[in-house]
Amino acid sequence: MPRQPHRPNREEALALLHEYVENENLRKHALAVEGVMRHMARKYDGEEDAWGIIGLIHDLDWEKFPERHCTMTRQILEEHEWPSDWIRAVLSHGWGLCTDVQPESTLEKCLFAVDELTGLVTACVLVRPSRSVHDLKPKSVKKKWKVRNFAAGADREIIRKGADMLGVSLDELIADVIAGMRDAAADIGLDGNAV
Ligand SMILES: [Fe+2]
Ligand SMILES: [Fe+2]
Repeated sequence: MPRQPHRPNREEALALLHEYVENENLRKHALAVEGVMRHMARKYDGEEDAWGIIGLIHDLDWEKFPERHCTMTRQILEEHEWPSDWIRAVLSHGWGLCTDVQPESTLEKCLFAVDELTGLVTACVLVRPSRSVHDLKPKSVKKKWKVRNFAAGADREIIRKGADMLGVSLDELIADVIAGMRDAAADIGLDGNAV
């Protein structure tokens, strides 16, 4: 009988993330992208756990190997015998930046589209008096979108490209990212209770 491919569960993925990522903000970024990917899986009829885990692990090598981003993640996940389609999905978030793996599946297009946008949404929440994602409206994100030097690291062009690939408007994408981040709000410190 052919060997069943190993399908890591969330616990394993989280342990691996903690092994390679110590920075609190990068861990929160991983959890934010996971929350949004879970939301996207429900919306696009995907497998929620797989989408979430891929979101959680996508920046695995960023802290320790920034100059080899994606390449090292590939190596680590291969060593852990992760499914090749999961690895491909992870690599596709760096398309045009550090890989030539173009997003093809809906999962991959979602990951590409939401990654940078979680950063912009986080920045939008952190300048609110409430510091809560629960009362953040897409309109406020849209306003900050136009302010070039606000959260300048969140590449608007990539986000726009991702929305186009998915065939959704920027407004719809922003609403989805906010919804997914609300689900993860407590874990990412954006539920208004952060000190
Ligand atoms: Fe990345
Ligand atoms: Fe990322």
